[in-house]
Amino acid sequence: MAAGTVLALLYAPGITVAQERDAAYVSANCANCHGPQGRAAGAVPSLAGLPSRYIVEQMQAFKAGTRPATIMHQLAKGYTDAQIELMAGYFSSLPKP
Ligand code: HEC
Repeated sequence: MAAGTVLALLYAPGITVAQERDAAYVSANCANCHGPQGRAAGAVPSLAGLPSRYIVEQMQAFKAGTRPATIMHQLAKGYTDAQIELMAGYFSSLPKP
């Protein structure tokens, strides 16, 4: 399957920013790997409780290709800066695992 197809599946169009439920909604795409509420069980890092700024910086680094990754460089490209800010705020607000 082409990477573009994966991105098309993961990218949820029509999301508006600045509402709490949107943050949870857009972040739901991350739960497959990072676990429910950002608490991962396996080798994938947990996101819950990480500083918002750190999450934004990592996502931008994945997007720009400056942080090497197995999958996140592909995923990060599917999100706007506003969506990344929204998700970062959401995950940082959750209790650390
Ligand atoms: C297909 C599995 C998968 C999905 C879906 C996924 N991630 Fe990841 N994520 C990973 C893996 C694996 C890593 C480790 C880096 C790598 O190899 O890509 C990672 C790393 C990260 C990191 C760096 C964490 C750290 O401690 O430095 C952040 C931030 C992150 N992901 C955010 C997200 C967000 C936000 C989403 C939802 C848009 C998401 N991820 C969806 C698999 C996934």
